[in-house]
Amino acid sequence: TKKIIMDCDPGHDDALAIILAAAQPSLNILGITTVSGNAEIEKTTLNALKICDLVSLHDVVVSKGASEPLVRLRENAPGIHGDSGLDGPVFPEPSRSWSDEHGSDTIIRLVKSSKDPVTILPTGPLTNVALALTKAPEIKDNIEEIVLMGGGTFGNWTPTAEFNIWADPEAAKKVFDSGIPTTVMGLDITHQALATKEVIDQVNEIDNEVAKIVGELLVFFASTYKEMFDFDGAPVHDVLTVAYLVAPELFTMKDVNIAVETKGEFTAGTTLIDLHGVSGREVNAKFGLELDTEGFWQLMIEALKKY
Ligand code: BDR
Ligand code: CA
Repeated sequence: TKKIIMDCDPGHDDALAIILAAAQPSLNILGITTVSGNAEIEKTTLNALKICDLVSLHDVVVSKGASEPLVRLRENAPGIHGDSGLDGPVFPEPSRSWSDEHGSDTIIRLVKSSKDPVTILPTGPLTNVALALTKAPEIKDNIEEIVLMGGGTFGNWTPTAEFNIWADPEAAKKVFDSGIPTTVMGLDITHQALATKEVIDQVNEIDNEVAKIVGELLVFFASTYKEMFDFDGAPVHDVLTVAYLVAPELFTMKDVNIAVETKGEFTAGTTLIDLHGVSGREVNAKFGLELDTEGFWQLMIEALKKY
């Protein structure tokens, strides 16, 4: 089994990523760390705890991480995920609280104490991962790979920047420049995973509590994507990080250099994806180009049926 740490800001698609991961016998979730992003840190952490209850991840540590980006002012995304960060379904109050340890310290502790290399799945702003790498650079040696959702050749928060990278560009730069093998699910590929009405119908045919909640999450998420972007269905961005670990054959990837703009007047948080090798900079990432969309939804539906 692969040992993973999920660093997230649930968030509808972050929640789906946890739900997909928890259903995979080949994945061992060592811990879940949260970051401010889609909503303020207390909210994203409560949401993570609620999802853990839903899928019975009672023994997985949940640690609250960074409440603010490294240097910039915080911005959250209630227009996309609602005020709670996870609007739509009604969840019971979480059965437990978060750990006392800061999320970045949990990452450090879990990576250091694991006898096998650990894969980190960041699906929010990269603040916690950057903090962990700054405080304990030696953890690099025991990180197998970082598989993250962020960036792309176009934007969704500014004309050129994607939300997770835009929210903390300095942290993203630290991660991309770290030398750790990095795999990137950017908007180019995540927009190929739209939860359309047909997908939601399929989810709603599954008769269990988890599928019911997922259906409600997708309906809410689709409504804001319709309003903000006029999309027919919401892209379930973050889930692709988990899907890649269990079914890499569904993904067409390309080795590229990715640089993060931290200074631009209009372009802070933009990822420069050097698809054609024009920069001369060394390859530092695998970038998602194309998804087998049907295969992906099959994987998702099969996972939901297991609950
Ligand atoms: C990313 O931003 C958040 O809204 C989603 O959870 C995803 O991680 C997409 O840009
Ligand atoms: Ca997210």
